[in-house]
Amino acid sequence: MSFDFSRIQPFMPFMLEGVWVTLQFVSVSLLFGLVLGIVLAIFKISKYRLFRWFADFYTSIFRGTPLILQLLMIYLALPQFGVDISQFQAAFLAFGLNSAAYVSEIIRAGIQAVDKGQREAAEALGIPYRPMMLRIILPQAMRNILPALFNEFINLTKESAIVSVIGVTDLMRRAQITSAETYLYLEPLLFVGLIYYVLVMGLTVIGRLLERRLKRSD
Ligand code: ARG
Repeated sequence: MSFDFSRIQPFMPFMLEGVWVTLQFVSVSLLFGLVLGIVLAIFKISKYRLFRWFADFYTSIFRGTPLILQLLMIYLALPQFGVDISQFQAAFLAFGLNSAAYVSEIIRAGIQAVDKGQREAAEALGIPYRPMMLRIILPQAMRNILPALFNEFINLTKESAIVSVIGVTDLMRRAQITSAETYLYLEPLLFVGLIYYVLVMGLTVIGRLLERRLKRSD
């Protein structure tokens, strides 16, 4: 067995550029997932049964089926209904919709983890619902929510490799293209594997710093 990195060297800049494609659509998806996830979380703690039911149903569907299936359905099946979308759009839609299910759970759990004595005290003081939520409960919930959201960012970054199946030229796809050009398989995978690892380690370090800051403000 031997490695031949010299032959994939000309493709290294091409593969490296995939970092931006990956990070770009992961960030857009996360943002989209965050907005939708907040709405769903509000539904989940709502006093109306229908809202709670809808949000729980949504979550069960998107967590109960593989992400790759959702991705393929959005990209390959939607055109049957006359909706043509680009690979990039399909990727960020699938990841955003999927992430919203996870984000809504993160937010719901974060809010419900705040000691219920906080709420009882606020009610005893006659503080109305909105200011109680915004100024007492949510700031405390943030300590649980932010690190978990960051974790979701990391998860999405790794999961993002599956968009290569619909042809988005992300990191993973670029490794495959390099293989097709050079007939070398392990080397391109090792190279992008290293890039993923560095990316995830970078995000992990940022996440740790964030967590430490949140602890300090305790
Ligand atoms: N690999 C799993 C799946 O296919 C995990 C998806 C994770 N999604 C997320 N937003 N964290 O369903």
